[in-house]
Amino acid sequence: MEPNAQAAPARITIDCRLPPGGERSLRDDVLDGLTRPFKEVPPKHFYDARGSELFEQICELPEYYPTRTERAILEDQAAAIAERTGAAELVELGAGYATKTRILLSALEDAGTLRRFIPVDVSEATVRGCADALVREYPGLEVHGLVGDFERHLLHLPDPCGRRIIAFLGGTIGNFPPGSRRRFLRTVAARLGPEGWLLLGTDLVKDARTLEAAYDDAAGVTAEFNRNVLRVMNRDLGADFDVEAFDHVAFWDPDREWIEMRLRSRGRQTVRFPDLGLTVHFAPREELRTEISAKFTRTRAAGDLAAAGLELVDWFTDPDELFALSLARLV
Ligand SMILES: C[S@@+](CC[C@H](N)C(=O)[O-])C[C@H]1O[C@@H](n2cnc3c(N)ncnc32)[C@H](O)[C@@H]1O
Repeated sequence: MEPNAQAAPARITIDCRLPPGGERSLRDDVLDGLTRPFKEVPPKHFYDARGSELFEQICELPEYYPTRTERAILEDQAAAIAERTGAAELVELGAGYATKTRILLSALEDAGTLRRFIPVDVSEATVRGCADALVREYPGLEVHGLVGDFERHLLHLPDPCGRRIIAFLGGTIGNFPPGSRRRFLRTVAARLGPEGWLLLGTDLVKDARTLEAAYDDAAGVTAEFNRNVLRVMNRDLGADFDVEAFDHVAFWDPDREWIEMRLRSRGRQTVRFPDLGLTVHFAPREELRTEISAKFTRTRAAGDLAAAGLELVDWFTDPDELFALSLARLV
């Protein structure tokens, strides 16, 4: 059925589990990650309202093949996924604006099973924005938004209202290092409920040039996105990063099979966090790691799923094997 903009709005509930601005976890992550010899902040802090908008722009870039490839796979396979899962409820981790999710929601609606959508995201703007849009587009759909950290707040998911499918799209699972990735998948598996399914989007191992271009586009949008984490720290923690004094760096690590994004200090710098009583020094060319994005093979995905007690049932990929969607259930 076509989305219907005229329909009466269905019910929206929003459960916000973050303190305003999410600054408590940012404070902990800065105290932990910027006081070590190798500096690091986790990628979830990119995503304030501006970071989420920049990510939407990245998704449209010619170099950024993951979004359009995953969308094409979803378009091909959504009806089959709806039929196999019979899901009444779609939970999406790191939903963002849930742009591709509509393909799945429409397939579940066409199958006559769809009742509830649960977007989970640290970005309150995206959760509220997609909830408002989706209740207008899907008559009768209930949306329960969870504003929170999917590493900490999955316990706050409501009980399933029928068969549940948890979608984790966009290759975001690659942001976890291997050990915590498997731990995280176990937590997700525990929230599937009876006869639940996991739909996992993974970017695949490929040539370094394609991968590095995807994280270092010619228009410089990814560089802006990367530097956004400095703006977030300035705003939420009162830090005084000179944002333009850091260069964007993205490279493929062939041994670990992941992309790293870093920010490289152009010169010697001192950054103050008066709210934390912290002063951080950067040497010339010193780097701050802001993201890893691990890439997958079918064997790696199946191994991670198995370690979390999940069985890989379907592996959907594109003709060029750039990206894959795994459909898995509890063993
Ligand atoms: C790479 S984007 C993917 C967005 C969308 N799912 C897609 O496929 O295009 C990652 C999304 O996950 C969210 N996110 C990142 N870390 C998170 C965390 N720890 N908890 C909740 N959301 C998180 C971000 O705000 C962002 O919307």
